[in-house]
Amino acid sequence: MKAHLFVCTTCDRYALPPGQPTRGEQMLAAVEAEAARLGVDPIVSSVPCVNSCPRPSGAAVREGRGGGVFRFARLSPADAPALVAFVAGRAAGKAVEVPASLADRVASYVLPRTLPSA
Ligand code: FES
Repeated sequence: MKAHLFVCTTCDRYALPPGQPTRGEQMLAAVEAEAARLGVDPIVSSVPCVNSCPRPSGAAVREGRGGGVFRFARLSPADAPALVAFVAGRAAGKAVEVPASLADRVASYVLPRTLPSA
């Protein structure tokens, strides 16, 4: 399983004066720091949007090509440890459940695509 975490960096970009880091940028910084602490930096990327805009800040965990997608909303930097532990566990192939502290931040889940058997 190739789980990867994509953090939106543009969330709430109109809520702050220019020059201030967006909520998404603050979330990315917290996630990158936690990923570095755990030595799993490569599983984190930034993206411009994950369609959680009405409930910032957003992030998504995609489990490889054709895999399932967890989309999160209303995240804060305090959620970074739980979020990174979740994706790191899934990336390691463990059947890690969404942490209880993030359960109400799951905005959607896209089922994995079932490939036709040969
Ligand atoms: S702008 Fe962050 S999810 Fe769309």
